[in-house]
Amino acid sequence: MGDGPLARHAREAREARHHDGRRRTLSVPVEVPLLVEAEGPVRILRLNRPHRLNAVSLPMYEALEAELAHIGADFETRAVILTGSGRGFCSGADLKAHRDHEASQAQRHAYIDTSQRVHRALQTLPQPVVAAVNGHAIGAGCELALSCDFVIVAEEAKLRMPEVALGTFIGGGTAYTLRRRVGHARATELILLGRYFTPAEALSWGLANEMLPAEDVLPAARELAGRLARNAPISMRLAKRLLDRAESVDHEEALRLESEALFTCMASEDWREGLEAFAEKRDPAYRGE
Ligand code: ACO
Repeated sequence: MGDGPLARHAREAREARHHDGRRRTLSVPVEVPLLVEAEGPVRILRLNRPHRLNAVSLPMYEALEAELAHIGADFETRAVILTGSGRGFCSGADLKAHRDHEASQAQRHAYIDTSQRVHRALQTLPQPVVAAVNGHAIGAGCELALSCDFVIVAEEAKLRMPEVALGTFIGGGTAYTLRRRVGHARATELILLGRYFTPAEALSWGLANEMLPAEDVLPAARELAGRLARNAPISMRLAKRLLDRAESVDHEEALRLESEALFTCMASEDWREGLEAFAEKRDPAYRGE
């Protein structure tokens, strides 16, 4: 974790100030809602509230937002994996915390706005993000997975967006993104019925790229992230940006954006490297320049 924002967050969480300003270390265990591991060019972000199947919390969203900002500016990181600690991926809103503590208007705004920034950060991060859905992904957890570029889902996972059955609402822009991905009829069915859907259904609708036994999900995500990390970073960033905008621009604008992207890539060092590597029959070593 190094000395990045998360390390700081964890350290600050372990420490508290006496009323007289002196620091003391708390003896109670403190929750670290997100764990970050670096494996070469791949960062693994692990939602870490396993006692609640990684239900989301404001500190978890804040940690995700900080880490994604850090990664977005880090040219050494080429791919990201989002997964969960323990047997769950993410069980969505923390129903116990919401019941125990009625949030103020300001707290509701902070929670909603931060969660939406996290979704947008995942969708627009320069690097590709693989959701390793190792277990249940419910409500906001399901939405988090769907904001990633690739989804590898465990055969055993329960998937559902039950918000309407609980008197709450989806918040990750899912009415927009899900409809775009599975069409109006299916999105209406999933959001208005809030029914469970199976990993096999997710796969057949194009919501997941692969379905595997739970223990194989993270290894497969590592392998996929490793492959993604070997591609040229500028091309990858531009491809992700254009895919994100694909439905909101007309055909002419799509062509113009692709020509701009192609021009940028053709002027890059990485394009030279790609050509040299091909000529020398070796793997390219891209620097994102
Ligand atoms: N919030 C708080 N605690 C939770 C949540 C949650 N969302 N989900 C699970 N937990 C807790 C359980 O209460 C249980 O705690 P306990 O051991 O102290 O009793 C522990 O995590 C394990 O959960 P189980 O229910 O025992 O696990 P099981 O595998 O049987 O069921 C399932 C998993 C289907 C995910 C079930 O826990 C569930 O339906 N959870 C609620 C999911 C939900 O509705 N989330 C909100 C969606 S709406 C939104 O996100 C905006």
